[in-house]
Amino acid sequence: MSSFYKRIIAKKILSGLVNSQRAADTQQLERRLRRIIRVPPVRKDPNERNSQLVIELSALKEYLNGKSFDINQLQTKGDMTVQLEQDAVHIKTDPGQFIKKVLEDIRSEKSSYGHIEPDDVKTRVCVDYSSPNIAKPFHVGHMRSTIIGNIICNMYEAAGHDVKRINFIGDWGTQFGLLSLGLAKYSDTEQLKLDPLYEFFRVYVKINQDVKSECGKESESTSPTYQEGLALFAKLEQGDESMLQIWKMVKELSVVHLDKMYERLGVHFTHVMPESNYKDRTEEVLQRLSQANLLQYSSDGVGYVPLDFPDSVGQATVVKSDGSSLYLTRDIASALDRQEKFAFDRVHYVVEQGQRSHFVKLVSILHRLGVPWANRPIDDIHIRFGRVKGMSTRQGNAVFLRDVLDEAKSRVIKSITSRSTSRVSQESLEDVADILGVTAIILQDVKANRVSDYTFSWEQMLNFKSDSGVFVQYCHSRLCSMLSGCGVEVTDDIDVSCVAHDDDLYGVVLHLARYPDIFQDSLTTLEPHIIVQYLFRLCHLVNVAYAFCPVKGQPIDIAQARLMVFVCARQVLGNCLRVLGQTPVEKM
Ligand code: ARG
Repeated sequence: MSSFYKRIIAKKILSGLVNSQRAADTQQLERRLRRIIRVPPVRKDPNERNSQLVIELSALKEYLNGKSFDINQLQTKGDMTVQLEQDAVHIKTDPGQFIKKVLEDIRSEKSSYGHIEPDDVKTRVCVDYSSPNIAKPFHVGHMRSTIIGNIICNMYEAAGHDVKRINFIGDWGTQFGLLSLGLAKYSDTEQLKLDPLYEFFRVYVKINQDVKSECGKESESTSPTYQEGLALFAKLEQGDESMLQIWKMVKELSVVHLDKMYERLGVHFTHVMPESNYKDRTEEVLQRLSQANLLQYSSDGVGYVPLDFPDSVGQATVVKSDGSSLYLTRDIASALDRQEKFAFDRVHYVVEQGQRSHFVKLVSILHRLGVPWANRPIDDIHIRFGRVKGMSTRQGNAVFLRDVLDEAKSRVIKSITSRSTSRVSQESLEDVADILGVTAIILQDVKANRVSDYTFSWEQMLNFKSDSGVFVQYCHSRLCSMLSGCGVEVTDDIDVSCVAHDDDLYGVVLHLARYPDIFQDSLTTLEPHIIVQYLFRLCHLVNVAYAFCPVKGQPIDIAQARLMVFVCARQVLGNCLRVLGQTPVEKM
C-alpha cells in the first residue's frame, strides 16, 4: 500500500478530529497515525494492487488518545471504499481508479504537484544561509550552507510560505586586522588585480603562518603579529579612515566574486544583511539585556549573560572589556532587527555543526528577550550539517568552490564528448556541462542525512549509471527525447487503467503517488536527502519501465496510457529537480 493512501486516510480521519486551524497538531497526529498504519511497502506484496488496508480499531483508539472520533466521518470516495467491519476499518482500493486519480492530479497540478497542502497555515520564514566570512576563503562549510539553505528556501516557497532568504555576510571581525597587516606585508599588486580572492587567501595564509611560528604551542595572543592584527581591527572599529578603505576594497572585490559563484550555483538571496551593519548596535543590545536583567560584568570589565549552559557551551560573552563588539552580540542585534522588520514565525540558521554552542547561546538569550520563535527546539533553529572530507581538485586540496565547479564542468565535457550517444550540440555543450557539473556537486552534497560527514568523490558524483546528479539529469533528458520522438500524443480522455497490468509502469505510478508525502517529510525535517533518495528511486523505476514498456509500435490505447505515465514521471522528476535548485536538462 503506498503511503499516498495512508495520507488520504490520515487526512480523512483527522478531519474528523481536529479543526484545520491547528495545523501543527494535525501534522503531529498524522505522523503518529502513519506509524500505526503499517502496511507492506511499495511493490513487496504481489497482491498489492488489490490489497486493502485494515486499521484495527484498538490501534486507532490508542492513537486517538482519548479524543472523540466519529467513525462515520470516513467516507467512500473515488478510488477507495472505506467500511467499518467488526473491529477494524477496512479500506479497499481500485487500481484503475487509483492510477487515474494520481495521473490526473499530476497533469492538472503540474509544477505544484506534491508541494501545496490546501489546509496548510502559511508562515513567514527566515533562512540565514551561506553567510561566508569575506576576509577568509569561502570554505566547504559555506558551500554546504549555501546549497542546503537554498533548498530549504525552495521547499518553503514551493509550499507557498513567505520566505526571506538572508545572507549574513561575515564582513566584520578580527580577521580584518590580520588580513590588512598581511596585505601591507605580503601582497603583490599585480596578483591583486588579476585574482584578488586568491591573493587575499595567499596573504591570509602567510600572515597566519607568522602568528603560528611566533606563538608555537602557546595561545595566539602571545604572538606580536596577532596583537598587531588586533590593534588594527580596533582602529577599524574606531572608524580609522585608512583601515576603512582597505576594508571596503576587500569587501567589494569579495562580493563580486561571491555573486558570480551564487549565479553559477543558481542561488539567490532576498536580503544581504552583512555583519558590519550591526557593529554599532552593541550599546542597544546591552541596554535590552540589562533591562531584562540579563547582563553582568566580570571584575575585568567583560560583559556576559549568565545562563546555566553546560560547560561545553561556555560563557555567553557579549562585550569585551574595551567595549568592542563580538560575533554573538552582532548576531543578537541582527536577530532583533530582523524580527522587528519581518515578524518571523520561524527562523533557521543553516550553519555547520561546529557552531552549535554559539547558537545555543544566541537562542537562549533571544528566548529570554521574548523573541517568539526562539522557544522552538534548537534543532529546528540551528540547521546543522557535517563536514566534507577529501575534497580536492587537480590544483590540490580544494579551497575555492570556483575550482571545484570548473573541474566538475571539464570532467562532464570530457565524459559527454566521449559518449557516442550524446545529443548535445557543440554550441550548447558549455552550458549543459555547467548545469550538469552543478547538479552533480549539489546532489552529492545532499544525498545523505545532512548531519553526517561525507567523502567527496568525483567518480560517484559523475556516475551516469546510478544515484548521482548526472544520472538523474540523464534520465530526465531520455524521457524528453522519448516523449518528443514517439509520435504519440497525450489527450485528456485516455483510459489509463491498463497500466495496472504492467508491473513496471504500475510501480512508477505508485512511486509518483508518494511524492506529496516525501516532500512533506523533507520539509518538516528540513532534510533534502529524503527528496534526493526518492528521486534516485524514481529514476531507477523509470529506467526499468522505459526498457520494458515501450510506447513506440504499440496499439494506440496502450501506447497512450504508457505515454501518460512517462509524461507524469517527467513532470515529477522535474519538480524534484527544481526544488533542489536544478534546471532539468532536455538533451545530453
Ligand atoms: N560568518 C559566519 C562564519 O562563517 C557564519 C554566520 C552564520 N549566520 C549567523 N547569523 N551567525 O562562521
